[in-house]
Amino acid sequence: MGTVRTQVGIIGAGPAGLVLSHLLHLQGIESVVLESHAREYIEKRVRAGVLEQGTVDLLVASGVGGRLLRESLVHRGLEIRFDRRGHRIALADLTGGRTITVYGQQEVVKDLVAARLAAGGQVLFDAPAVEVQQLLSDRPTIIYEQRGERHVLECDVVAGCDGFHGVSRNALPPGALTIYERDYPFVWLGILAATPPSSEELNYAHSEHGFALHSMRSPSISRLYLQISRDDDLSQWPDERVWEELQLRLGNDDGWVLHPGPVLEKGATDLRSFVAEPMRFGRLFLAGDAAHIVPPTGAKGMNLAISDARLLASALAEWYRSGSEELLDAYSPACLRRVWRAEHFASWMTTLLHLHPDDDAFGRGLQRSHLAYVCSSQAAQMSLAENYVGLGAV
Ligand code: APR
Ligand code: PHB
Repeated sequence: MGTVRTQVGIIGAGPAGLVLSHLLHLQGIESVVLESHAREYIEKRVRAGVLEQGTVDLLVASGVGGRLLRESLVHRGLEIRFDRRGHRIALADLTGGRTITVYGQQEVVKDLVAARLAAGGQVLFDAPAVEVQQLLSDRPTIIYEQRGERHVLECDVVAGCDGFHGVSRNALPPGALTIYERDYPFVWLGILAATPPSSEELNYAHSEHGFALHSMRSPSISRLYLQISRDDDLSQWPDERVWEELQLRLGNDDGWVLHPGPVLEKGATDLRSFVAEPMRFGRLFLAGDAAHIVPPTGAKGMNLAISDARLLASALAEWYRSGSEELLDAYSPACLRRVWRAEHFASWMTTLLHLHPDDDAFGRGLQRSHLAYVCSSQAAQMSLAENYVGLGAV
């Protein structure tokens, strides 16, 4: 059992852990990132794909935005489809020019891993953390496994960036966290397809058959989602059925046609709202999905994870520089203000756009009125737009 020492021990090489390690390095702070999966796996896993302007600005300013700027797609609007009609939300015009950027999460991960390794950073793959200990001391430790052996990583601080199913949040004693949670009675079936996007912008569709979303990854790759029942099995959704259902839900009276193509990947994503408070316990700081989950309808998950990492990196830099704990103490409340705004927005978008199987006729009437309002009122569209592109200070 070998012992390794570092300043910040980071569990998880997702956007939160990698951005944190990268920003700490720029401030001269050393870290070790432990990742339970192989490099190839995390670089291929298809996840979210929409970056807020502030996220793009951070990646570019910190020197990892080169490929992002060359290959991503910048969007100035999106479309909401309701009653078989499209309604464009002019995101940029409504928010003083702010845009969103379509770039897959695994591409962000690839760029960050490459930057860390090129700078001599330590990212250990196939190295799951199994336990975190001594969190209330000034020498917290992480026990991890690599090639069948147990190792100890001694740190000043542990960053739990290990996603919803990681070990760090669950290592806390009972009662240390307050959990807020809501489940939804449907899931998203997502496909990645080798076909050019059928629209230039994202289309969020409400239909009597359920919600559907048209998105993309590049000029030749589309990303599409369908609301399906939580009880459905993916075997009930062969490719032809998926394409038919997408056309049915996304189709409009202007004759919009979806262009099917070979399905490269198919998977199901749970929808969940979840917040664990506070995001700190002694020398353990939680960041990203380890502390909070939003349903994907508002495209906020990756942006929140990166925002947490940015705040944690500045707080740690201040602490190492001056010994002041002020920013570390402010970390959890500062993150949670933004998290709760995103929780509200994501839950609002989810409620607005999905078919709710348990809704009564009154609920359906409210939803139709809500959709009609969002599709016709500039004030409502401005509110949607400023939340979608990302609020600066909340
Ligand atoms: N030890 C080491 N690594 C672990 C462990 C563990 N015990 N448990 C989980 N991990 C790793 C996972 O394999 C994953 O690569 O932690 C990483 C967490 O990354 P993400 O799940 O991407 O979480 P985060 O960085 O917070 O980013 C949130 O991911 O799920 C999406 O929609 C979500 O876009 C959001 C983003
Ligand atoms: C995606 O492209 O994967 C995507 C886009 C918008 C969302 C969710 C996912 O709201």
